[in-house]
Amino acid sequence: MPAISSTATGKTILFGEHAVVHGSPAIAVPIHAIQVKAIIQPSISSQESMIWIRNNNGKESFKLTDLAEDNLFRGTITEFQHELQFSLPPFILTVTSEIPIAAGLGSSAAVAVAVIRVLGEFVGRKLSNEMVNRIAYRSEVIQHGSPSGIDNSVIAYEKPVYFEKDKPLEILQIKKKIHVVLGDSGERTLTKDVIQFVQESMQRDMDRFQDVFQRIGNVARSARTALENGDIQLIGSLMTENHRYLQELGVSSPKLDQLVSSAMQSDAYGAKLCGAGQGGFMVAACSREQQAAIANHLRNISPRVIEASIGGI
Ligand code: PMV
Repeated sequence: MPAISSTATGKTILFGEHAVVHGSPAIAVPIHAIQVKAIIQPSISSQESMIWIRNNNGKESFKLTDLAEDNLFRGTITEFQHELQFSLPPFILTVTSEIPIAAGLGSSAAVAVAVIRVLGEFVGRKLSNEMVNRIAYRSEVIQHGSPSGIDNSVIAYEKPVYFEKDKPLEILQIKKKIHVVLGDSGERTLTKDVIQFVQESMQRDMDRFQDVFQRIGNVARSARTALENGDIQLIGSLMTENHRYLQELGVSSPKLDQLVSSAMQSDAYGAKLCGAGQGGFMVAACSREQQAAIANHLRNISPRVIEASIGGI
């Protein structure tokens, strides 16, 4: 049997992180410029399944059974077997990722989606996006505790999404291409820790936090129309407004604020932190003409800068 492969993209949340966990709408888009690739082949010489991981930190290999039950790979594979009521034969799985870990770009959900898709092909099952999404969500629960489900949704469907917890997923039509620059703060945090930080802060100041979540939700609602109409100036100013609310929640950092200011000084339409925050990446929306200049400016203060585009299809 030849090796089988599958891929999944990274993502950025353009509007609504954190508030989405508490019931407000949010908007996320796939970032095709960064991908995870999973390759699988049957293990012929051993009864043990092996996982090879290649990323920026190098190359490592593990026996599946040596991994902790809440490990991303083991959790995803267990949930896959559970959903399909199927016991996998021994395999060698190699996962190569360009997506930085714990940086707000959907690394764990992308690994889960790529692994689920390749396992599906391995056992000869064509999985619907809905099924991939369902399994990936359960893998995210193992990783993050109580995720909203936005990361697995945008990555499983590989389309811009307007997401509200416990409501049907809506695919967004972004007709006009939007150029973005993503800048790394170099700081790393775990999503579940930052979600917990927000939850604990909220207990101390319930009314204020609920008010901020509501304002973030209103920004996401306005942004939806702006994205559908291709109103890039408005999209940008709503992003910057959203960043201010994330600052109020205490999930920005001096480095993320510096990246936002730097993008704005280079004439971005708007900029904000993306994902859980307290580290990770900043996303700025800009014109095609400004994209390279903003990226170059950010490279002076950021260890990794990614230029990408979204929508336009
Ligand atoms: O895991 P990240 O950094 O992409 O953040 C996810 C966004 C949150 O709203 C903070 C959590 C969630 O589950 O929606």
